[in-house]
Amino acid sequence: MSEKPKFYITTPIYYPSDNLHIGHSYCSTAADTMARFKKQTGYDVFFLTGTDEHGQKIERKAAEAGVTPQAYVDKIVAGIKDLWKLMDVEYDDFIRTTDERHVKSVQKIFRKLHDQGDIYKSEYEGLYCTPCESFWTELQLKDGCCPDCGRPVEKTREESYFFRLSKYQDWMINYIKEHPDFIQPASRATEMLNNFLIPGLQDLCVSRTTIKWGIPVDFDPKHTVYVWIDALTNYINALGYGSDDDSLYQKYWPADIHLVGKEIVRFHTIIWPIMLHALGLPLPKQVFGHGWLVMGGGKMSKSKGNVVDPVKLCERYSSDAVRYFLMREMPFGSDGEFSNEALIRRINSDLANDLGNLVSRSVAMNEKYFGGLVQAPAEYNELDQKLIDLATGLWEKVEKSMNALQFSGALVEIWKLIGECNKYIDLTMPWVLAKNEADRPRLGTVLYVLLECARIVAVLIAPTMPRTPERIFAQIGVTDAEQKTWESTKTFGGLKPGSLVKKGEALFPRIDMAKELELLEAERLAAVAEAEKKAAGKEELPAPKDEEKTVFTQKDLCQFDDFEKIQLVVAKVLKCEKVPKADKLLMSTLKVGDTERVVVSGIAKFYTPEEMVGKKVVLLANLAPRKIRGVESHGMLLCAANADESKLSLLTVDSDIEDGCEIG
Ligand code: ME8
Repeated sequence: MSEKPKFYITTPIYYPSDNLHIGHSYCSTAADTMARFKKQTGYDVFFLTGTDEHGQKIERKAAEAGVTPQAYVDKIVAGIKDLWKLMDVEYDDFIRTTDERHVKSVQKIFRKLHDQGDIYKSEYEGLYCTPCESFWTELQLKDGCCPDCGRPVEKTREESYFFRLSKYQDWMINYIKEHPDFIQPASRATEMLNNFLIPGLQDLCVSRTTIKWGIPVDFDPKHTVYVWIDALTNYINALGYGSDDDSLYQKYWPADIHLVGKEIVRFHTIIWPIMLHALGLPLPKQVFGHGWLVMGGGKMSKSKGNVVDPVKLCERYSSDAVRYFLMREMPFGSDGEFSNEALIRRINSDLANDLGNLVSRSVAMNEKYFGGLVQAPAEYNELDQKLIDLATGLWEKVEKSMNALQFSGALVEIWKLIGECNKYIDLTMPWVLAKNEADRPRLGTVLYVLLECARIVAVLIAPTMPRTPERIFAQIGVTDAEQKTWESTKTFGGLKPGSLVKKGEALFPRIDMAKELELLEAERLAAVAEAEKKAAGKEELPAPKDEEKTVFTQKDLCQFDDFEKIQLVVAKVLKCEKVPKADKLLMSTLKVGDTERVVVSGIAKFYTPEEMVGKKVVLLANLAPRKIRGVESHGMLLCAANADESKLSLLTVDSDIEDGCEIG
């Protein structure tokens, strides 16, 4: 017996965030759909997902929540697993970067790369921006200042380990050029070459002495491993690479597809392949960078009030409806807009009308005219044959689209058949045939054709909508496993005459659009209010720095034009008092030249109102006003804070500088 071909697919490992939204579900749904499709078409599949749990952001958030980082991530990871269960994301393994198997392997890999000279220790002598906690090179500076925040930088020394990316730059360029399928869609390969590789790679700083919540370098434990080096190796660590039992690694590596969001393609197509190559391991066959699900044109974020909670959607509309929407709405690779209206429109038109009606009408007519008994078809006429050809040729089109990760394209093809079936009902008019006894054989044939098409549709939608097929099978009288296989869609006639159809509940009840939108909007507003309430306590603390994203490239940096938009001015504190019922907040009345304004800041733990009066502080003056605990705040006072925010210092200027002076 020939062995099944192997297929290994991964999602990125997710940051444990209490803000997991429908955008995060997008990648997992796609990976799960692909994994199911491959299983159905005869592959031995391994589907990996997991969580990326180390780094400064988690360290800070845990400190804010007053718990250990481990306790903090444990709770969130449990919620992520619940979400995947709800959405029928059926992974074969879930790796956590805090798993011992992962930690040990990362340490081994780091040591190996070090022993062979690809990782080396150096004294990093560079330019450091203290407020941003970022190192920069001379070349990266903008007008001699930090390119992120525009403030002056200082010369600093820090001991760090570096990975020799530069040594592999030419090899990487050639590899990408010689393997056009490695990065998909192809436009992303061009982006990697032009934006990162051809301008030149610098050796990457791969250890930190300032971040404690990470994997210690075992031979030099004051260093922790840079989070991306830690995270990327999950794809082989989960398979037991380098462990006593590496049978899964031997069986499934290299991965067939790493599915990743477009913003992390560069980590997966530059750092990761270079690491693998340096370790002497084969590269994944493909990295596919999918697009973003956006809302109101922007990235989802709780504070903007445009976050969509996948749990709520699944509970309200069913996970199959949500999965269908995600896979159907936008071509994989492009960005797409999420709106409640678009979701409900799809449910009403594609699911309730097209698919739902096909099944319910066919079943209802078969019950009405034949007591539910599926008839043996008589001879097929030309009209029947056209539909039959479409149905039995469908698997091939679906496979082609699915293998190119064009989920939407595959569904479009399936819905063409559904559309043709509904037209066929109108053309054949079974209710007219039913009036004449002599037409009964023809009526039986027409209904057989429809029910058999519904069976084929049910099998082909299964990867995207794993729950719906069984509900269809139960209605159209399909009971045997062999009538549900992918193979069975290639020939017409799987449905057995003599089976009994049975009308069930509507597959997807129609939704009253206007009413539903009103309800959803009310819920959204409540969520925004909740988020604002939560944010109020932390309003003025500096945002956690995304250290993972600043090391590798200049592409995402704040440009000078962006910096120029920021108005920093000197302000004098005239009055200051505590904000009632808010432990962390102070409300300061500031004099800025001839004007006065009120600013609310989260600094009450560090300054008393009395200490504040008379200080000359640095004010971000053109920040959009916002209400914090009922007080409208007009700007932000700049502060420096350490990693766990146990220390904080207001930025001030010498007293002879007048308020109203511009800073920049
Ligand atoms: O990047 N639309 O984790 P993450 C589509 N830990 N996809 C979205 C999305 C949206 N609105 N929002 C997020 C990380 N994603 C790292 C990965 S892998 C070794 C380490 C996708 O939790 C995003 O593009 O920030 C990414 O692919 C995935 O969710 C995880 O993002």
